[in-house]
Amino acid sequence: DRGQFRHFMLKEIHEQPQAIADTLEGRIAHGHILPAAFGVGADEIFASVERVQIIACGTSYHAGMVARYWFEDILRLPCAVEVASEFHYRNPVVSPNTLIVALSQSGETADTLAAIRMLKREDPKRPVLAICNAPESSLVRESDLVLMTRAGPEISVASTKAFSTQLVSLALLLLAIGRASGRMEEAEEQRIVAGLEKVPGRIQDALDHGDRVRELAELLVEKEHALFLGRGPMYPIAMEGALKLKEISYIHAEAYPAGELKHGPLALIDETMPVITIAPQNELLDKLKSNIAEVTARGAELFVFADERAGLHSADFTHVLPVTSHVGRISAPIIFNIPLQLLAYHVAVLKGTDVDQPRNLAKSVTVE
Ligand code: M6R
Repeated sequence: DRGQFRHFMLKEIHEQPQAIADTLEGRIAHGHILPAAFGVGADEIFASVERVQIIACGTSYHAGMVARYWFEDILRLPCAVEVASEFHYRNPVVSPNTLIVALSQSGETADTLAAIRMLKREDPKRPVLAICNAPESSLVRESDLVLMTRAGPEISVASTKAFSTQLVSLALLLLAIGRASGRMEEAEEQRIVAGLEKVPGRIQDALDHGDRVRELAELLVEKEHALFLGRGPMYPIAMEGALKLKEISYIHAEAYPAGELKHGPLALIDETMPVITIAPQNELLDKLKSNIAEVTARGAELFVFADERAGLHSADFTHVLPVTSHVGRISAPIIFNIPLQLLAYHVAVLKGTDVDQPRNLAKSVTVE
């Protein structure tokens, strides 16, 4: 039931504060991750883990890419992420004490299942953790450890609340591994838990600014292409924003790490190429600002979703939408993704596409 919402996608976007609160429920308390969060036997596995290999497709893959920044930066734990369809056909090397993490909303994605089955055939003792939204799924049945995202049923083909709850679940995994392996100081754990507890409210704030995103969508609807730029953990968020836009509005969208601009895509920039970027307040902001100057100098229309303190302001052909401020490195990608979801949604509605059921796509991709 769509209730008051015109599409399931919009309903699911608005369900994110609750979905995240549900995913956190009973898993963190008093500034700590609770030992039972990942079930019996998890701590023993987490204590000896030396690498993490994340496997997923589509939007779930983007969640994994964000987590790679967190695991390596915060825990100093090597982490690789790969799309399942490549991973399982290239005869990958997986070293001992690698924790395999399969991310999937449906738990029925054929490529992800095939990758897990290949790894299990190779070494039945190798631990596989599923982060999944469907309790009865094949992935859940075939994994050793399970963390359920509690997003509730996701009907729209374009994944939104599943992605946000995956990110929160990956943050819980970061905490659990950090704790069990002694790689995270207690003060850091407390800081991250406190940040996670604020995420539902921050998302609600971002949703409350939805009307302003619709105004930006009106400027994009006639475009044929769009370039999304981000740095650090915002690079996968740029990829996710581009995927949403192409999936439901059929506008060709590409994402680049902003630092790669001058290695090629800058050649595409002129007044017909809108550039969309995400500017949280972090140590990469100055670098991002110089990338922004590179594109505006070439006449591109720029759309920036920025931290209120970023010191970026609207001007001719530059549209700055303040999103939030004072968000930490875990919360930032989760929150800055919200306006990109809304942007894709409003562009699609303005174009009149079948938002919940885009052409050529299925909700669950059960063929390889
Ligand atoms: O169910 P899964 O998370 O395994 O699905 C993976 C992708 O098929 C999925 O995320 C797809 O990319 C979405 N339609 C994106 O919105």
